[in-house]
Amino acid sequence: MQTLWALSPLLFSAVRALPQATATPSQSSSSSSPAPTGSAGGNPFQGYDLYVNPYYKSEVETLAIPSMTGSLAEKASAAANVPSFHWLDTAAKVPQMGEFLADIKSKNDAGANPPTAGIFVVYDLPDRDCAALASNGEFLISDGGVEKYKGYIDSIREQVEKYSDTQIILVIEPDSLANLVTNMDVQKCANAHDAYLECTNYALTQLNLPNVAMYLDAGHAGWLGWPANIGPAAELYASVYKNASSPAAVRGLATNVANYNAWSIATCPSYTQGSSVCDEKTYINNFAPQLKSAGFDAHFIVDTGRNGHQPTGQSQWGDWCNVKNTGFGVRPTTDTGDALVDAFVWVKPGGESDGTSDSSAERYDAHCGYSDALTPAPEAGTWFQAYFEQLVQNANPSL
Ligand SMILES: *[C@@H]1O[C@H](CO)[C@@H](O)[C@H](O)[C@H]1NC(C)=O
Repeated sequence: MQTLWALSPLLFSAVRALPQATATPSQSSSSSSPAPTGSAGGNPFQGYDLYVNPYYKSEVETLAIPSMTGSLAEKASAAANVPSFHWLDTAAKVPQMGEFLADIKSKNDAGANPPTAGIFVVYDLPDRDCAALASNGEFLISDGGVEKYKGYIDSIREQVEKYSDTQIILVIEPDSLANLVTNMDVQKCANAHDAYLECTNYALTQLNLPNVAMYLDAGHAGWLGWPANIGPAAELYASVYKNASSPAAVRGLATNVANYNAWSIATCPSYTQGSSVCDEKTYINNFAPQLKSAGFDAHFIVDTGRNGHQPTGQSQWGDWCNVKNTGFGVRPTTDTGDALVDAFVWVKPGGESDGTSDSSAERYDAHCGYSDALTPAPEAGTWFQAYFEQLVQNANPSL
């Protein structure tokens, strides 16, 4: 991945990504951007463009487009310029966060109007991905992982403080708290319970800075949306929030990260098993009041990166790995039509694999070999050309 990055160092750019229906009036002086307000000023996406991740852009432009033609190649070029979150999935990636923030700052200082915000995923818990295998991480609880994680958070905090005049929006630890709600019967998750809570508390308190807005990952409709799960989920998320002293920078929750559910769908797909909570809008609108009465007045963002084709090819709702018959969803926007939802965003970079289908690999997870998973698939996080082409082929017309 480093090599690829080195190929295209000149691709830094930001495009206008969010509709500016309620944009702030343009300033007479073009040389000063307004101070970022994290989430203290309300919706942290309002008044900002999102950063076009130059790493993802270079993947699409160097790995994908050369073998594509015609309208598919055109759509691929469009996808390359859609802002997506950058996953800090190893401590070694934190310096790259600094490079991106330096680029954002120089553009904002040069008068970018609206200014650009940086968007990142914090994703390096010890014993990560405790209920699956494909995304196991670099830190082990049994090998000082909690302290190493705190060092990782400290290094992120340094970048955030260094770029204190840049708005930074973070998704915190996909799947982790959701695993604590439903997977305590998995030994690795039960073992990780205390470490996950201690580490999450550390992240929320240390990154509670004026230019930050955080969204804790909260699974999706088919996971925590079930009647048996939603109450315990509201209790857990609210207790994590209150335990961190209700940080001003914690704006709420992120749902559907790297998943495929529709935002709103008229007919529930067959694989949603008769649940009346089969889309993210219903899930969020059920969840928010319960969170609020537990003490967490949460707002939401929803990952629309891979939900543009409905129904998907899933045979089971829980199938999460490189699912067939999916497409890029609506572009990032604050125009969500729902007061609870700050923005639709692309958190999962579409075209990066969810996990390898090589059954002899150390991180092989059986879900990546199911008949509804596209194969052959490379290791999690690496480029999966056939998957990218599938997303383009089935993309929402707005791409
Ligand atoms: C509360 O925070 C402490 C660390 O200060 C942590 O050890 C504990 O697990 C947290 N509890 C919850 C419910 O988040």
